[in-house]
Amino acid sequence: MKKRRRIYEGKAKILYEGPEPGTLVQFFKDDATAFNKKKHDIIDGKGVLNNRISEHIFTQMTRIGIPNHLIKRLNMREQLIKEVEIIPIEVIVRNVAAGTLCERLGLTEGEVLPRSIIEFCYKKDELNDPLVAEEHITAFGWASPQEIDDIMALAIRVNDFLSGLFAGIGIQLIDFKIELGRHWENDAMRIIVADEISPDSCRLWDMKTNKKMDKDRFRQGLGGLVDAYSEVAGRLGIIPENEPQRGSGPVLVSDNDKTEE
Ligand code: C5P
Repeated sequence: MKKRRRIYEGKAKILYEGPEPGTLVQFFKDDATAFNKKKHDIIDGKGVLNNRISEHIFTQMTRIGIPNHLIKRLNMREQLIKEVEIIPIEVIVRNVAAGTLCERLGLTEGEVLPRSIIEFCYKKDELNDPLVAEEHITAFGWASPQEIDDIMALAIRVNDFLSGLFAGIGIQLIDFKIELGRHWENDAMRIIVADEISPDSCRLWDMKTNKKMDKDRFRQGLGGLVDAYSEVAGRLGIIPENEPQRGSGPVLVSDNDKTEE
């Protein structure tokens, strides 16, 4: 296999140098981590599913003008993406109380919030990605006030889009996290959505049964993660329903599934 330069390895993905300047290859691993790596497992097939689900979501976002880093999916585990300067902030949008919001404010899981809430966390594993205020972001120069405005507008657009997309397939979007990056094109910079959007980064509940179809299955030891992610992919029409995608073999049959064009 051709050698290529590894730029960065995260918990669930690896970034390699891309074929053209300004591009990278994003590789989806099967690693699942939670509680800042205190819980770790390899879940056969997760990377393949997240690659497909994230590709689908980013492609639809491109169609409606939400700027993002996806150029194209390359194969089962990899995407060609635009290189960006990642803003060291995780942006969380919440529609329904769950996870750390319940822990922090004593809310009951499942309580519908009075309105969507945007939170910022500083991307710093050593500190467990602490919640920060806009004041910290601007004071420490992680993003400017104008950039924060752009980020919030983008986050709201993504929330509206994802809520509708998932509602259409009987899934409630509880919350999600996005990452953003600065992308330069001919000396002009704009902020675009980067990283991934998948059941690893969203909370997704079945609307009829409230079944969790996201990474909480791993965090809470519920099991059945690949089946749940497969069901999400199936309902989105990405893979035939009831066909779990396991392993890295050539199991997906689609004209779009070419390694190179
Ligand atoms: O854990 P918490 O309730 O703060 O998570 C809110 C949302 O952000 C969840 O959908 C979770 O999957 C996502 N998240 C993430 N990566 C993190 C922290 C949270 O994808 N590092």
